[in-house]
Amino acid sequence: MRNSSRSKVDPFIVMDVMEAARKAEEAGRHIIHMEVGQPSTGAPEAARRALAAALETDSLGYTVALGLPTLRKRIAQLYGEWYNVDLNPERVVITPGSSGAFILSFTALFDSGDRVGIGAPGYPSYRQILSALGMVPVDIETAPENRLQPVAADLRGQNLAGLMVASPANPTGTMLSKPALASLMEAAAEAGASFISDEIYHGLEYEAKAVTALEISDEAYVINSFSKYFSMTGWRVGWMVVPEDHVRTIERIAQNMFICAPHASQVAALAAMDCTEELQGNLAVYAKNRQLMLDGLPKAGFTKIAPPDGAFYVYADVSDLTQDSRAFAAEILEKAGVAVTPGLDFDPKRGATTLRFSYARSTTDIEEGLARLARFMAVRA
Ligand SMILES: Cc1ncc(COP(=O)(O)O)c(C=O)c1O
Repeated sequence: MRNSSRSKVDPFIVMDVMEAARKAEEAGRHIIHMEVGQPSTGAPEAARRALAAALETDSLGYTVALGLPTLRKRIAQLYGEWYNVDLNPERVVITPGSSGAFILSFTALFDSGDRVGIGAPGYPSYRQILSALGMVPVDIETAPENRLQPVAADLRGQNLAGLMVASPANPTGTMLSKPALASLMEAAAEAGASFISDEIYHGLEYEAKAVTALEISDEAYVINSFSKYFSMTGWRVGWMVVPEDHVRTIERIAQNMFICAPHASQVAALAAMDCTEELQGNLAVYAKNRQLMLDGLPKAGFTKIAPPDGAFYVYADVSDLTQDSRAFAAEILEKAGVAVTPGLDFDPKRGATTLRFSYARSTTDIEEGLARLARFMAVRA
């Protein structure tokens, strides 16, 4: 049977790293995992308890396509708490992770062949999902002086139907300031491009607060998730805020594509939203790890790093050390016992000379990983 040409998307290279790390562990080696993009903590305790109670009393069948009304309302309240934004709960759509929200938003906003701008480096699935849906991802090569984020001038002459940004971003952790975000949104509006803001790492910020696109304009799709700050990756629940006149369109697509996000996960997510103390505890660990990375990576010899404003990543330019990040990551795994991600997943052009280090694991792991990296680099020099 033939496959569609749309389906020929690239695999995640990080999966190869994870597999190599798994094999090394199987062979008895101890590996420090700096390649993973997820918290090592589970869902907050009260979220697990809420689900346990619901299992006894609720059949947990389909919810309505837009999600549990109580959860949509609680998310709207979060916008008041986090950003002082007054949000109509009717605009909140519960999705199967932010990944589900990408499929819904791209389908609702773009036609086949439409060009959609994405930052490079950036989260690889934007590119692959757009391609799989028959749209054309347009890499915007970002500059270190712009915190590796797109700027308004990048849109000129690109004929974009959409622009997708993430702040804090994966793999860089860099954020867009309010003026930077506003200028991009304005440029997108002038160019007739729909604006999508991936805000999945909000809540995981260290020096300044992340800005939501909704502080600037209601004419945007805002995507978020319970995967990162709320520490619920495998539960597959996220959300999207869309302009009022787009809700019905999204509802119709969601009904047909997903029916609903997992009901059990929605119950747990609702309870997770009131677990501030536990979640801030997780954040405190990331903050400590981040500081260790900011001290330890340059000491080890990784000196060119993007400003890690948020998320749990440090992105390093290693062009002075290698022209082949994939081979370099394999060497680090083999000789130092530390798994890191080559930049190629995030930036097809320049990723051969970059690495992403994640600090989402325990502080003990980060300390050990940094010590191993320092020893490895000292021998290599
Ligand atoms: C920037 C970004 N957006 C979206 C996702 C997907 O997350 P979800 O688990 O909500 O589908 C990730 C996962 O790592 C990510 O880094």
